[in-house]
Amino acid sequence: MQIGIDQLAFYTPKTYLDLVDLAHARGEEPDKYRIGIGQYEQAVIPVTQDAVTLAANAAVKVVNETNRDQIAMILFGTESGIDHSKSAAVYLKRLLNLPDNLRAVEIKQACYGATAGLQFAHDYVRLHPDKQVLVIGADIARYGLNTPGEVTQGGGAVAMTISAAPKLLNLDNETAFRSEDIMDFWRPLYRTEALVDGRFSENVYIDFFKTVWLDYQRQTNRTIADFTAFAFHLPFTKMGLKALRAVLPEADAEQQKQLKTNFEASRQYNRRVGNLYTGSLYLSLRSLFDNAVLKPGQRIGLFSYGSGAEGEFFSGTISEQFDAQQSRQRFSEFFSSRQQLTMAQYERLFSQQLPDHDVLLDVTHDDARFVLAGIKHDQRQYLDRNKA
Ligand code: CAA
Repeated sequence: MQIGIDQLAFYTPKTYLDLVDLAHARGEEPDKYRIGIGQYEQAVIPVTQDAVTLAANAAVKVVNETNRDQIAMILFGTESGIDHSKSAAVYLKRLLNLPDNLRAVEIKQACYGATAGLQFAHDYVRLHPDKQVLVIGADIARYGLNTPGEVTQGGGAVAMTISAAPKLLNLDNETAFRSEDIMDFWRPLYRTEALVDGRFSENVYIDFFKTVWLDYQRQTNRTIADFTAFAFHLPFTKMGLKALRAVLPEADAEQQKQLKTNFEASRQYNRRVGNLYTGSLYLSLRSLFDNAVLKPGQRIGLFSYGSGAEGEFFSGTISEQFDAQQSRQRFSEFFSSRQQLTMAQYERLFSQQLPDHDVLLDVTHDDARFVLAGIKHDQRQYLDRNKA
């Protein structure tokens, strides 16, 4: 039985910053950001969007009348949680109007949360092939104004349905993972911006990748020759290029060319959105699906990394039913409809924070279907414009 990713959707707000403007403002060479970091643009998340609304705006694209009653679980990966106790998945369930007889939980391990959800979903659907699991990765990546990490901010959400006979990717059963207590990137409960040891985090990412890649090959007897493409967690797209370069010498010249071409396809969307933490790998996979030339049966390798740290290498083959045509069209329309911000507008939006008391937010500048309209009696007030 084939189990895997049936649908994969993405949402990010329309407001963005051109990183050439950021480079000029911060006294850096634009090429440092565009080539050295590998980022062109960055999504800027308004205060009227949080992990729940980002997720809802992505998830409505994959939940419909044909699968609504099959969804048995929501596994919500995030490190931008809105409550220490209650899971974001429960809010999401209500916004999507899903039936009560399902499990709704949040998973946290930095940028690895959605992959944990995907793997748990894989196991669940193997036992319950008539069911589907909704897996979410939703985050807002914040390092702070005038920090080295600023150029690697961003945000958004991915929503995936995991099912039997999937339309996109059949997941292989073999997978290699590793966890270790490491302080490369973290965010204490009292902080709204992450703390990071930048260079160290890059080195740990590469070490984890090499280790789980070796472990995967040992388990499966597969080699790089079995792969058409790799998709990586992309905190910034140069990071994935560094990982790819670590294994490229294992491939012959022709395959190296193919892997490099497909890597370019896999980073197109991430270059323009920035880091979305736990959804990042899956935005890259969406970008690969939409922008590479892929055929059913071809094998894709995926590397997921969550600081702190957890890494996993797993794989899947392109489904017989694969068709990325419509998604490619929607993305190209989306990117051309975005609103570019000036530096002053970006800094103002970035600095707007929710107060710890009741507030009514101005939602007129946010055209999303789901928005955060305010806080009342310490409870977030969500608005579904289709119901308003
Ligand atoms: N033209 C071309 N390239 C240039 C250039 C120019 N004019 N000027 C500089 N560069 C290159 C540098 O040579 C360097 O390349 P290499 O990495 O290949 O050596 C690159 O641009 C970056 O330059 P610096 O190292 O000087 O950059 P920095 O010190 O300002 O910080 C950073 C870079 C460490 C990535 C920082 O942005 C950061 O801390 N980001 C957040 C942490 C992060 O994303 N870590 C990734 C692993 S952790 C993870 O994956 C989890 C997660 O999501 C956070």
